Amino acid sequence: MSVHVHEQTMIFHLQGPHTSYMMQVAGGYLVHLYWGAKLRDDRNLEGLPNVPNHDNLDQISQEYPQYGNGDFREPAYQIKLADGSRISELKYKGYRVVPGKPKLEGLPAVYAESEEDAETLVIILGDDYSGLTVELSYTVFAEHDAIARSARLINNGSGSLRLLRALSASLDMDIPNYDALYLAGAWSREAHLQRRPLGPGTTAIGSKRGMSGHQLNPFFALVSPQAGEDQGEVFGFSLVYSGNFLAEAEVDPMGKVRVLMGLNPFDFDWQLDAGDSFQTPEAVMVYSAAGLGGMSRTYHKLYRTRLARGMHRDKERPILVNNWEATYFNFNADKIEAIAKTGAELGIELFVLDDGWFGKRNDDTTSLGDWVVDKNKLPGGLRDVAERVNRLGLKFGLWFEPEMISPDSDLYRSHPDWCLHVPGRRRTLARTQSVLDMSRSDVREYLFATLSGIFSSVPIAYVKWDMNRSLTEIGSAAWSAEHQGEIAHRYMLGVYELMERLTAAHPDILFESCASGGGRFDPGMLYYMPQTWTSDDTDSVERLKIQYGTSLVYPVSAMGAHVSAVPNHQVGRFTPLSMRGNVAMSGNFGYELDLTKFSEEEREEVKKQIELYKEVRSLVQQGELYRLISPFETQEASWMFVSQDREEALAFYFKVLAEPFKPTQLLRLKGLDPDLEYEVEGIGVFGGDRLMNAGISFPALTGDYASRVFQIKAVR
Ligand code: DGJ
Repeated sequence: MSVHVHEQTMIFHLQGPHTSYMMQVAGGYLVHLYWGAKLRDDRNLEGLPNVPNHDNLDQISQEYPQYGNGDFREPAYQIKLADGSRISELKYKGYRVVPGKPKLEGLPAVYAESEEDAETLVIILGDDYSGLTVELSYTVFAEHDAIARSARLINNGSGSLRLLRALSASLDMDIPNYDALYLAGAWSREAHLQRRPLGPGTTAIGSKRGMSGHQLNPFFALVSPQAGEDQGEVFGFSLVYSGNFLAEAEVDPMGKVRVLMGLNPFDFDWQLDAGDSFQTPEAVMVYSAAGLGGMSRTYHKLYRTRLARGMHRDKERPILVNNWEATYFNFNADKIEAIAKTGAELGIELFVLDDGWFGKRNDDTTSLGDWVVDKNKLPGGLRDVAERVNRLGLKFGLWFEPEMISPDSDLYRSHPDWCLHVPGRRRTLARTQSVLDMSRSDVREYLFATLSGIFSSVPIAYVKWDMNRSLTEIGSAAWSAEHQGEIAHRYMLGVYELMERLTAAHPDILFESCASGGGRFDPGMLYYMPQTWTSDDTDSVERLKIQYGTSLVYPVSAMGAHVSAVPNHQVGRFTPLSMRGNVAMSGNFGYELDLTKFSEEEREEVKKQIELYKEVRSLVQQGELYRLISPFETQEASWMFVSQDREEALAFYFKVLAEPFKPTQLLRLKGLDPDLEYEVEGIGVFGGDRLMNAGISFPALTGDYASRVFQIKAVR
C-alpha cells in the first residue's frame, strides 16, 4: 500500500495490494486518470486518455466536478452564495499525505488500526471567488483492495453560503457498456439482486425516506457485461451512511460514465457560515478483477475488521432465542422463563425480550418513548426477569425503539414538540407512531439518560435497536428557518452521536440494529452495531434470496438469521426444520418461536443444530464466503464458508422445489487449497483441486425444501 506523488507531472498514484487509482493536476483541475488493476509505479504514467488537451469542461474527467461553466453532467457539489449565484470553480491548491486514516467528525467510517494499516491522501481544491475550500480524502489500505473517499467543504470566505449538494465521491470512467448492479426490495423482501445495462442518460438509486431503506440499499456496482460470480471486472461503491442517499451513473455522449455517490441532494440545503466546515459521509470503493465474489470478500473483510468495532467484533456471537414471533405482545414473566428454560435445555445462550415489555404496550399503537417496565406483564420488574433468565444459564437481551414516540405516551404528552413536525401541518403517523427529533440535543440527552440508566441497572448483555418507520414532515422546532433543510442529515448525525455515546458507555453490550428487518442494513449502522436483523421475513425460502443478496456487500457476521415456526408467519409456507436450520445457520444463528411447543423429535433435531453451529460458528462468522449457486436463477442455492487458513470449510446446498429426473447433484466447491486433501463428511476424501474443478456428487435430494450441509476438513 502506498501513495506516490510525482511532483514533476503532478500525478497522484494510490496503490492497494492489487489495485491502482490515479489522478493528475492538469490545467489547474484535478483530473481522474485511472482506477483498476495495479499498475507499476516505475514507468511513465503520463498520457493516459483522460488528460485534457483542451478546455472543454464537458469532456474533462474532474474528480469533484462543479456546476456552471461548461460541464453539463451531474456535479459533485453545488453552492449558493448570498448574491444568489449558484456557480463555482474548483482549482488545485495543494495536498498532504497522512499516515493511517483520520476520523470523520461525527460520522461512521472505515478505520485504520495503526499507521501501517492505511495511508490517506488529502487533496485541497479551492474556489477563489467564494472562498470555498474542498478537501478530498482518499485512503488506501495495506490489506484491502478498497479506497475510502470523502470530502470536507470549508467556507473560507467572509459570508455564509449554502450547500445545495455535497456528494462523497465522483468518478468519470470509460465503461459505458457495463451493467449496473444493485440491491432492491421492500419490507420483508430486502436485497434482491438487480442488474441492467447502462445506457445513455442516468441510472440512479437512492432514498428520500430519512433512512437508507428496504427499497434500495446504499450500494451500487458497475460490472463488465460478462462478469459473474468468479470472473469479470467489478467496481463497487458502498456508502457508509444510514439516511437519504444517492448513487448514480450517467453515460454521456462521449461514452464516459460519471459515477456519483453521497448524500441525496433532494431536500438538502445546508447553511455553511464563514469558518465552518461540512464533512460528507464516506464512500468505500472496491475494485475486483475476479467478479462479484472477489468484490464481496473484500467488503466482508474490510467491514468485519475495519468498520465494525468493539469487543464483540472478533468474538463468536451467541445463539439466541427471541420471543417476538413466539408471543408478540402477549407474554408474562412466567412465559418468558418457560421459553428460556427450554432454551437452556437445548443449548441456547441468550434470551432476547422483544417489543411489548414497557408502558401499556399490548399492541403497536402506544407507549413508545415511555421506557418503563409494564408491571402487569413483569411484576418483578426488568431486573427480576433478567435474573430469572440468567439463573437458567442464559444471558439477557432487550428490545428498544429509541428513535420513536407514540402520540399515546407520557413522553408525547409532556413534550409534543419533540417529534419531527412542521408547525400547522398534519403529523403523519406510521404504525401509529411519530419520529423523535434526533437533531435536538435535549431529546438525545433524555434517551441517553433513560437507556443508560436501564443498561446500568439490569444485567443486559444484548440490545436490539429497532426503527420502524420512515421520516415524514422533516422539520424541527429547535432550529430556525434557515436550518430546516438540514434536518434530515442532522437527524442522522444525532442518531450516530447517541449510538456512539451509548456503545462507548456500555462496551460489554452486544448491539444489533434493526429497522423492520433490513430497512437500515447499511455500513453506517455496522460502525456502531456489529450485527443487523436481516429481514422480518423468516421464511427459509425467502431468506435464501435475502441473505444471498445481502451478502453481496455485508459480512455474514452482520446478518441475523432465525429459525421460526411453520406455517411461516409472513408467507404461510411449511418448510422442514432442517431447511430452516440450515438457512439460519448461514448467518448469526437463533430461534424465534415458542420453544416449549417442540415435539420430542424436534427437540432432538434442534439440539443437533445448536451443537453443529457451536462447532462451526467461527468458520461461518469469521471465514470467507463463497457463493456457489444463486437462488435468483434456479430452484437451488448453495454457498460455503472457508476458514482463513483453508483447513476447514462448510458448504450448504438447498433445493427449493423438487424437479423430476435429476439423478445426482453436482456441486463445485470454491476457495479450497487445490494441493490439500479434504474429507467431505459422509462422502469421502478428495483433493482440493478435484472438489473445486470436478465437484462432489451426492444422491439427488427428494421432496421440496430439501437441504444438505457438508463439513469439510483437511486431512494430512
Ligand atoms: C420490527 C422488527 O423487525 C421485529 O423483529 C420486531 O422487533 C418488531 N419490530 C417489534 O415491534
